[in-house]
Amino acid sequence: MGSVLFSPLALGPITVPNRIAVAPMCQYSADDGSATTWHIQQWMQYAMSGAGLVVIEATGVERRGRITHGCLGLYSDANEASIASVLAAARRVAIPGTRFGIQVAHAGRKASTQRPWEGGGPLQVHEDPWPIVAPSPLPFAPGYAVPQELDEEGMTRVRLAFVRAAQRAARLGFDVVELHCAHGYLLDSFLSPIANVRKDAYGGSRENRMRFPLSVAKAVRAALPVTVALGARITGTDWTETGWSPDDAAAFAAELKALGAVYACVSSGGIAPGIPIPSGLGYQVPPGAHVRAKTGIVTRSAGHIVQPQQAEDLIASGQADMVALARALLDNPRWPWHAADHLGAKITYPPQFARAAADVWKVARVARPLDFPQS
Ligand SMILES: Cc1cc2nc3c(=O)[nH]c(=O)nc-3n(C[C@H](O)[C@H](O)[C@H](O)COP(=O)(O)O)c2cc1C
Repeated sequence: MGSVLFSPLALGPITVPNRIAVAPMCQYSADDGSATTWHIQQWMQYAMSGAGLVVIEATGVERRGRITHGCLGLYSDANEASIASVLAAARRVAIPGTRFGIQVAHAGRKASTQRPWEGGGPLQVHEDPWPIVAPSPLPFAPGYAVPQELDEEGMTRVRLAFVRAAQRAARLGFDVVELHCAHGYLLDSFLSPIANVRKDAYGGSRENRMRFPLSVAKAVRAALPVTVALGARITGTDWTETGWSPDDAAAFAAELKALGAVYACVSSGGIAPGIPIPSGLGYQVPPGAHVRAKTGIVTRSAGHIVQPQQAEDLIASGQADMVALARALLDNPRWPWHAADHLGAKITYPPQFARAAADVWKVARVARPLDFPQS
């Protein structure tokens, strides 16, 4: 039997040629939300990577919804034009069949922070900070700004910003729009009782906490052409008894599915600092498998998936339908070529690289353990 990792998968209106996704990865290298030369080299590499789906980094739907000054955005015509030209370059070198998605996001109470390599903390007065919003006026951590609690009008504005960004994404020709509902950012912070202590219809019960994120998903789905797939990145667990659980994730995924979302990428953590995460190979697989078993939604697993056989087994065993790799692909964007070789699957890649394949991989197989560290 051939490799399931390299078999196609339908995501609603589109089909991806294999089950490998480039996970969204902030590059903190944009200019007032607009893509730069950095993005050209990144997206071109991922376009040639052999991954069936390339998901562009968390992209702010509002200027104030960016995490840092360097985050990508889709809130202005200039942002849209910059992304159009970078995407066109990526598509010119893409392996045929490669699909492109973009993660639309709002950082909520985790906005207005420094780039990771500048410290990652809240922006200081001399660093041009901006006012932030959240479901409740609870700072992310001591020393962080107190967010303004969103009222109905504010929520309407944010929802509209998601819709407009999604419409821009569709106009740009993205195949997938992925809603960022994870990692403690705005939509996730509505879901989790750790960040949402509202007393109105948007807080309290799980049903209430899901109300705003689901209203965003519904509005975005309605605004997208039927040819564009809607997916979501969701939190599988906050890793604490007092937080969001795998059962909550399954309930949310079921509602998203009913609204027309065609996949859930199950991630975890990030709602508050100081909660230990038991990270290790495939550490987010169990909550994802739970969501998949309970809802039947196409499930993408992420988190320390680094070995081709590990990815193959995850899918073959029915724990996930797809995998998303972040750091492994950041480190080696040609991971899928080597994975295909490893699993005996055929993959098309640019002929300019043919001699490397013939002369290096096949001969210097001794290099293989370095590419795919064993557990
Ligand atoms: C540099 C970097 C940037 C990231 N940016 C995003 C992002 O924009 N959106 C998101 O949902 N997750 C983001 N993540 C999380 C990854 O998508 C992924 O879920 C996480 O790194 C675990 O997968 P891995 O073990 O394959 O790296 C980022 C991770 C890294 C390393």
